[in-house]
Amino acid sequence: MSGLAIIGGTGLRSLNGLEILRREVKQSPYGEPSSPLVHGLWCGKEIVFMVRHGVSHAIPPHRVNYRANLWALKDIGIDKLISIAAVGGITSELTPSRIAFPDQIIDYTWSRANTFFEDGIDRVTHIDFTQPYCEKLRQTLIRAAGEAGIEALTSGTYGATQGPRLETAAEIDRIERDGCDMVGMTGMPEAALARELDICYATCAVVANRAAGRGREPLSMKGIEANLKVGIMQVQHLLEHVIPMA
Ligand code: HPA
Repeated sequence: MSGLAIIGGTGLRSLNGLEILRREVKQSPYGEPSSPLVHGLWCGKEIVFMVRHGVSHAIPPHRVNYRANLWALKDIGIDKLISIAAVGGITSELTPSRIAFPDQIIDYTWSRANTFFEDGIDRVTHIDFTQPYCEKLRQTLIRAAGEAGIEALTSGTYGATQGPRLETAAEIDRIERDGCDMVGMTGMPEAALARELDICYATCAVVANRAAGRGREPLSMKGIEANLKVGIMQVQHLLEHVIPMA
């Protein structure tokens, strides 16, 4: 099978309208993936859906088994992967519930299993990660957003933070000086592992909150969830346009 998968993040645990064909429980040499792989028909196309934080949303970002998830998807023949990821908006345009398609990454995570190229290899391998996202899939997302009438940000730098706590205001100031437009906790090592496996990978970021020190309201899970509810409705609409194109 050559195919498209969607990995849902916080706020996206199911796809409305997905006609489920079967649920596949996979094992991997790296342990258990976050969730079963849900094979289904959506918008007339067979796709696979999985949830990054587990079916009951109990796996925090630093505990996600990114290698198992990516390995499992590759093993069933997935070659395109759209990641849905909640972010905090740093730049002023990134207001709650907006959608953005980042084109760069700065990685601030640590101590995560971040490569397939370590044990049992016969030669050291360095992937080209100059452009961390698959530009073809990013352009498809941008075109689909246009068709869907969604005013998404079409570029931006994603700062991947360790979590699970949110950042301090000073950390966000520093991350902004580094050039980041948004922060999230799951973008790495997911993007790099996808590249190592030659999976075309792009992210649809949904702004859950203004990043620490950037908004007037104190940050709360309740506020984040309310913003994501609105943002995820747009993501669903966007995906309905992306699926037939991807
Ligand atoms: N920081 C990091 N990750 C996030 C945030 C944030 O403010 N909001 C949603 N995911």
